[in-house]
Amino acid sequence: MVPKIETTRHAIAIAIEQLDKWFGTFHVLRGVDLTVKRGEKIVICGPSGSGKSTLIRCINRLEAFERGRIIVDGIELTDDVKRVDEIRREVGMVFQQFNLFPHLTVLENCTLAPIWVRQMPRREAEEVARHYLERVRIPEQAGKYPGQLSGGQQQRVAIARALCMNPRIMLFDEPTSALDPEMVKEVLDTMVQLALDGMTMVVVSHEMGFAREVADRVVFMDVGQIVEAAPPREFFDAPRHDRAKAFLAQVLR
Ligand SMILES: Nc1ncnc2c1ncn2[C@@H]1O[C@H](COP(=O)(O)OP(=O)(O)OP(=O)(O)O)[C@@H](O)[C@H]1O
Ligand SMILES: [Mg+2]
Repeated sequence: MVPKIETTRHAIAIAIEQLDKWFGTFHVLRGVDLTVKRGEKIVICGPSGSGKSTLIRCINRLEAFERGRIIVDGIELTDDVKRVDEIRREVGMVFQQFNLFPHLTVLENCTLAPIWVRQMPRREAEEVARHYLERVRIPEQAGKYPGQLSGGQQQRVAIARALCMNPRIMLFDEPTSALDPEMVKEVLDTMVQLALDGMTMVVVSHEMGFAREVADRVVFMDVGQIVEAAPPREFFDAPRHDRAKAFLAQVLR
């Protein structure tokens, strides 16, 4: 049985309150507040080094934080390993570098975690994997190795692999920025489809066309803070903050 994206559990998918994080003495996140509703799509943008990756990595505890709270689907993130596991079950993540296992086929990349982490029977895991490979439109690549695929295809495998764990929330960290221009669209199309299916998504991206089309809100970060958060039309047509204006002038040029 292929699981459906569940959309009804908690009205608030992610609540981040007064989050502070340091790398040693460097204060990387400064009092970040962000609430993501179930089904909402957030695009985070901002200059390099502003803390975008660090922020989304905190959500599934790839980074620890020193102050504040993060609550995912009603579960508060603490040092408790069980809680961290529970939250990671809810959250799928796709990175700039696809991080596929090169020695495993596409299908094996997709079934590895369901079989070994979820104890899903192999037959069922393969059925689920083929379903998602179909959805990202590369079912015919199932038997190939990542090295035999284009960058865009590899990134779509990475998305399918994350979906195989049936997450309620998907985090993306610049999923298209390592791709050749002609492959960006096929990955963005996949993400648009996922958005239309109702997935809750937090996407770090400078693809402003995607943000305009899909985002409920665009969040602009600078030096570890959320400086502005607004619906795309408002953000693009009338950015309020000088730093957001300067940033937009640069990326839209
Ligand atoms: N593990 C680390 N140790 C120390 N400093 C770090 C570490 N990871 C990131 N930083 C620093 O924290 C700041 C924020 O990094 P982060 O990767 O979150 O930025 P970003 O907004 O994602 O940037 P980019 O757009 O370049 O990906 C940067 O100044 C970076 O050098
Ligand atoms: Mg980053």
